[in-house]
Amino acid sequence: MRMILVGPPGAGKGTQAARLVEKLQIPHISSGDMLRAAVQEGTELGKAADGYMKAGQLVPDDVVIGMILERIAKPDAARGFMLDGFPRTIPQAEALDRAMTEAGYALDLVLLIEVPDAMIVERGVGRRNDPETGRIYHVKFDPPPPEIAHRLVHRKDDHEEAIKKRLTYYHDWTSPIVPLYDAKGLLRRVDGVGTPDEVTARITAVLGK
Ligand code: AP5
Repeated sequence: MRMILVGPPGAGKGTQAARLVEKLQIPHISSGDMLRAAVQEGTELGKAADGYMKAGQLVPDDVVIGMILERIAKPDAARGFMLDGFPRTIPQAEALDRAMTEAGYALDLVLLIEVPDAMIVERGVGRRNDPETGRIYHVKFDPPPPEIAHRLVHRKDDHEEAIKKRLTYYHDWTSPIVPLYDAKGLLRRVDGVGTPDEVTARITAVLGK
């Protein structure tokens, strides 16, 4: 299975990916996670991305495209992958399409998790990430156990101003890729409102797994 998760910031892409990849036995490839790891490690890629990310802006296409195409060429992605957060612009979608055609394989599915704008800020502001396990929590909707509260991280771009900026970028730059995949018959829409379990059940039904 070669699939893409699309949705506004805080739609639940990371939350759902973590639940699905184990079942599907494919790697979860999150452009945001890869960029945050590069920032943390202080690599050239991380230095190039840091300022954009903190401000809630998109990292330039050439930086992100190279990073993802290199990642999906690795052996563990040969039998499939779940892309999360990439592609995010039409040039990124076109680059992915070209690379996949050259490699001789095709996308199976693009899953759009739909959440209204009005819910996005609350989801982002309340998010907390566990750096030890990678688990995503929410202070209200999915509270972490108190004994791990001290080690949780609040992302630098999870404040209201950056979340609103990310949402604007989503509508201006990422939404336009949706009709492209719809025209190819690859798009499936899932309602992202409800508990994470309810959303997982909807996705599982779409995947037929
Ligand atoms: P990225 O990390 O991809 O951020 P994003 O798309 O904004 O998505 P998020 O990680 O914020 O949200 P999510 O949908 O995964 O939600 P989650 O499951 O965590 O990108 C960050 C930055 O990197 C970008 O702004 C950009 O600078 C750069 N970047 C990355 N990729 C790029 C690219 N391709 N091109 C250019 N730049 C790029 O859930 C959110 C919260 O809600 C959590 O607290 C969770 O517990 C909670 N939650 C989840 N599901 C539910 C539910 N059903 N009900 C209630 N709460 C829920």
